[in-house]
Amino acid sequence: MAFLRNTWYVAARSGEVGRQCLARKILGEPVMLYRTAAGQPVALLDRCPHRLLPLSMGTLQGDAIECGYHGLTFDSTGQCIRAPGQERVPLGTAVRVYPVAEHMGMVWIWPGDPALADRSKLFDQLPQWANARGPNPQWALLEGPLTYVKSNYLLLSENLVDPAHVVYVHKRSLGSPAMANIPIETSQQGDTLLVSRWTPNAPASPILQRYGKWAGNVDRWQYYWMYPPHIAVVDFGAGLPGMDRSNAGRDAAIRLFTAHFMTPETATTTHYFWFVLRNFALGDRAVASDLIEQVTMTFMEDKAILEAIEDAEVEPFVTSRVKLAVDAGSVRLRHTVEQMISEEEALRTSGRTRAAVT
Ligand SMILES: [Fe+2]
Repeated sequence: MAFLRNTWYVAARSGEVGRQCLARKILGEPVMLYRTAAGQPVALLDRCPHRLLPLSMGTLQGDAIECGYHGLTFDSTGQCIRAPGQERVPLGTAVRVYPVAEHMGMVWIWPGDPALADRSKLFDQLPQWANARGPNPQWALLEGPLTYVKSNYLLLSENLVDPAHVVYVHKRSLGSPAMANIPIETSQQGDTLLVSRWTPNAPASPILQRYGKWAGNVDRWQYYWMYPPHIAVVDFGAGLPGMDRSNAGRDAAIRLFTAHFMTPETATTTHYFWFVLRNFALGDRAVASDLIEQVTMTFMEDKAILEAIEDAEVEPFVTSRVKLAVDAGSVRLRHTVEQMISEEEALRTSGRTRAAVT
């Protein structure tokens, strides 16, 4: 399977990367991550070019990694600096180094052409997470547990441009029957997709009712932003019927954002990093632990569905699929990702890059 390479993917939570080696497969490639003594994250191909032992089985010597088999040692730029038993290191001995960046409490990796790695291309579409002065005090952050999903990452991305599944998959949390027949709106600007639904004057879904405690009906919104191929932000919440639908109006109601970062491990498995932001009960620990439990339960419902679909996709029993009106977001997503990957491939083979022409 082809992956988009010239983009930043989340490799790890910042707290996972320290003064010991972390081995993680990303886009099918074995990667090892660690931090220099000064705190800079480093990502190297997790293979010693001598006998191919994973370097993550070696030991850090200062900022360098010493292979656990014969002691060949590489610095944080991937250059070999020591070959025990001989005076000079064999000419050109190096291990691949990946560009990395630390951003939003996560370590990001650029698996594509290192010359194109650019911090300005890091995901920066969520002012509720932080503004130029640091963490946004109007919003409380909860990090979800590291989640491993045995499905292709695009099944996850597809799930995140799909407000329609909520009614059926998340009956206990996000769904409510009133949403089922409200049309879904889909739009696209550049590569970015927006799939949304506004459900007026209906009972709140179970999660929102826990915190809103409304006496009657509410207006309920779902805005699914997708930054293909692998990042999604869901803006959802509820307020009194007839509420102001603008950004300021939603801020004045019970509002949550979930942010989702899908990093392919292989073509059939995904490292799934996510967090939640809320604008209510900011310092309330009981609400925080209840909310993370509720959202985790919700995402585990998605995980079970997507893993079952991944298994079914390799079976020969059904060879054609029915298309529904609710698939508009998924169709656009798949098409956009295919286009991004084929553009990257075409430009790579012609010696130019997508970045160079945009
Ligand atoms: Fe879901």
